[in-house]
Amino acid sequence: MSAPLHNQNHDHITARHFHQWTGSSYPLPADAREKERLQLQHDAVKHMYEDRIILAPVEFNEEAKVLDIGTGSGTWAVELATNTPYIEITAIDIEAGCLPPVLPENVKFQLGTVLELPKKWDNRFSLVHQRCLLLGLEREKWLVALKEIYRVLQPGGWVQLGEPKLWPRDYKDYDRPCTEKLATILRAVADSKNFYADCAEDLGRMLQAVGFTNIKGEIRRQGIGAWAGEQGVAWRKNLADVFNGIETSAMDEGGFGLVNSVEEYDLLLEGFEEECDKVRGGGWEFIIYYAQKPL
Ligand SMILES: C[S@@+](CC[C@H](N)C(=O)[O-])C[C@H]1O[C@@H](n2cnc3c(N)ncnc32)[C@H](O)[C@@H]1O
Repeated sequence: MSAPLHNQNHDHITARHFHQWTGSSYPLPADAREKERLQLQHDAVKHMYEDRIILAPVEFNEEAKVLDIGTGSGTWAVELATNTPYIEITAIDIEAGCLPPVLPENVKFQLGTVLELPKKWDNRFSLVHQRCLLLGLEREKWLVALKEIYRVLQPGGWVQLGEPKLWPRDYKDYDRPCTEKLATILRAVADSKNFYADCAEDLGRMLQAVGFTNIKGEIRRQGIGAWAGEQGVAWRKNLADVFNGIETSAMDEGGFGLVNSVEEYDLLLEGFEEECDKVRGGGWEFIIYYAQKPL
């Protein structure tokens, strides 16, 4: 175990619990609030994809084994386990703090990193699922992760990866100054830890580089804010909570010259939610890729 990554100088940031995995600088918390956010986000992503949690054309038989990497709250794994009780699901994460106290019998959790999956898992899984690791993997680690996924898939097995597209690096929005600033801070947090914030746009190329075939991507767009209905409100809440979750990392870095105090940061969060609801047209994109390990 490493020392806690976040210092304790920001007493007035409501205390959040963070992972303790050596070698990872994943900046989002792992606590009850984050668990709620991940459940909300799961439903919101599922809604974007016509209520499907699997897009890959995989067919499960009684022997099928599925791996969910970076499972977080385990919501995806638990839903799949409930829909298909005859398959065996393994869920891994560097932290267990968001998991429910009890998992279905056919879901087994294991602490671990995608960067070093167990050696005995060679050619084991029919489907490997990984979603929202954009703040979990450094740029040069993505190919390491995808090679590990390739190794643990059976020949003919499928990988499914889902990632959001962030606001562009040069994002300017005079109508949404708080959104613009928080989007810039999110990138600055990612850059400060060398994370690959734009991984969503590179998934297809990386899958090909590792040797996957039948690569397909499906992109969806969702408005953010009350003007975009129930789903718009869900995404506003989710993103507000992501911005809240990175507050400790941002303030640890001195606010990147963009925000000077926790009070100022909290005003930005309030402003973000107001802008989402008042200014129509703000949106967000998500991409799910799936690809096959050759037979
Ligand atoms: C944003 S959450 C997504 C959770 C879940 N995949 C979902 O979509 O609901 C990212 C998760 O990845 C985990 N994570 C970060 N780095 C990881 C790594 N190297 N290996 C495995 N999990 C990792 C974090 O602990 C966190 O639970």
